[in-house]
Amino acid sequence: MKIVAINGSHRKGKNTAKMLETVLEEASSLGAEVELMELCDYDIKHCLSCNKCLRRPECSIKDDDMAPLGEKLLAADGIILGSPVYWHNVTTLMKNFMDRTRYMHMTANLLGGKAGAAVTHAGLRNGGQEACLAIMENFMKSQGLLVVDDRNADGGILSAGATGTMLADYQDGKVSFRKSVEEDEIAISACRQIGRNMVHLLKRLD
Ligand SMILES: Cc1cc2nc3c(=O)[nH]c(=O)nc-3n(C[C@H](O)[C@H](O)[C@H](O)COP(=O)(O)O)c2cc1C
Repeated sequence: MKIVAINGSHRKGKNTAKMLETVLEEASSLGAEVELMELCDYDIKHCLSCNKCLRRPECSIKDDDMAPLGEKLLAADGIILGSPVYWHNVTTLMKNFMDRTRYMHMTANLLGGKAGAAVTHAGLRNGGQEACLAIMENFMKSQGLLVVDDRNADGGILSAGATGTMLADYQDGKVSFRKSVEEDEIAISACRQIGRNMVHLLKRLD
């Protein structure tokens, strides 16, 4: 069982990466082979809207890193997307990546039936996490993935989606921020649950 994670943060190894690593650690502890890919390491050009992928499952842009990244998606059983919230949306890197997967979707449903999940991180409380999560989840549904969330079938529901926030507290007019998502216990716990839920789904699909 292979699970890959794609980080759309412009900052490698920071909060969104830590959330994805937590999902992957949990999945790995249950036997999955895992890999994290940071989009900022990849040269991915903008979609040209040439519409050649309407005729065959292939992208006309050949001189960048999308093809090897696409191969990793095709080889995976599960795909986790992570993006920080930028203006109540995904980042440019994540949106650009989504656009370039169009060739996997228009004439053939190449990612169909894989498991998918999303995580997000933002500066503020109610900073757009739910909108960002919905954008990634809707993308995956459009690509035919079976989207898992962080619901805990064995116990109570802790949160509705793996979302983190830097804002920790507000007392006597003073705002305090977390140093890292690792201090956000709900976010980390939700990421672990996503790892478990994805492995559980993939075992059932096997
Ligand atoms: C261009 C830009 C737009 C942002 N927009 C929002 C926003 O709409 N809401 C919010 O709460 N935080 C926003 N942030 C803050 C990031 O979501 C926050 O710093 C997040 O922790 C970054 O994740 P990372 O550590 O994985 O890079 C924005 C940051 C940048 C650079």
